[in-house]
Amino acid sequence: MFKRKHLLGIEGLTRDEIDHILDTAQSMVEVSKRSVKKVPALRGKTVVNLFFEPSTRTRISFELAAKRLSADLINFSGSSSSLVKGESFRDTVLNLEAMHPDIFVVRHSQAGSAYYLTTFSKSSVVNAGDGAHEHPTQALLDALTIRQHKGELDNLKITIVGDILHSRVARSNIFLLSQYKTKIVLSGPPPLIPPEFSDMGVEIEYDLDKAVEGSDVVMMLRIQRERQTGSYFPSLREYRKFYQLTKKRLARADKDAIVMHPGPINRGIELMKDIADSDKSVILNQVSNGIAVRMAVLYLISGGSHEFNN
Ligand code: CP
Repeated sequence: MFKRKHLLGIEGLTRDEIDHILDTAQSMVEVSKRSVKKVPALRGKTVVNLFFEPSTRTRISFELAAKRLSADLINFSGSSSSLVKGESFRDTVLNLEAMHPDIFVVRHSQAGSAYYLTTFSKSSVVNAGDGAHEHPTQALLDALTIRQHKGELDNLKITIVGDILHSRVARSNIFLLSQYKTKIVLSGPPPLIPPEFSDMGVEIEYDLDKAVEGSDVVMMLRIQRERQTGSYFPSLREYRKFYQLTKKRLARADKDAIVMHPGPINRGIELMKDIADSDKSVILNQVSNGIAVRMAVLYLISGGSHEFNN
């Protein structure tokens, strides 16, 4: 069962807690298929989306998740707030806290910012991505998508490809998948996957052709230019040559392999242009599952049980 007040990361969650969130999310999937897409579970609660970094999928799916649970939702965007007049992160949050919200959903470029918020706020906090640290709800929606397509999270080979070093999605996925008896393989340019990653219990294979061989899941990542401070590969042309998922490379994976990507996609760079639209791609399923997972997380940290309809 899930007894936590906050969701700051996947690290530290037990397999039982992850399974419970995923089971709850699976039951939330059905709500979004109804003609009236609403349950009263969080009626009277207020959720504040605090986004200090750009977002399309995460911000909008948290907004829909809160609304489908009947919560009141306020969207805060750093660029249109009094931050631009010099107000600090802490003072901004303290002022919003004075308006009695129940849950802050926070995205920020600094690792640890979600945790920092819990040190002076009384509200529940959900990490929607903090620097290169964690993006827990992304890993949960990825896990839900894998479970729906593969039936389980054990006994799989999952290959994660690209800019692992700067990816909070990769870190959260590694923490989550490590709770299951599944093989995790990282692939990408060596400067973007330092050998220390093997301490996390994963295999590193810099040759993408070998890494993809027999994979059940191929998870492609974007090059995180906004977090890179140096030059990690000679050119985009080189990157495409060695690390783009092409149809030929994908043919080396298991015949029922699925292709995942957290978005945003850079078509023609990490993915050959039409792979995202192929029958192997579950990228838009990931997006749909984002609503169910975020509904489950908001519901569970508010003290919910499985009965959310009444
Ligand atoms: N996957 C993800 O976090 O996408 P956004 O940056 O659009 O929220």
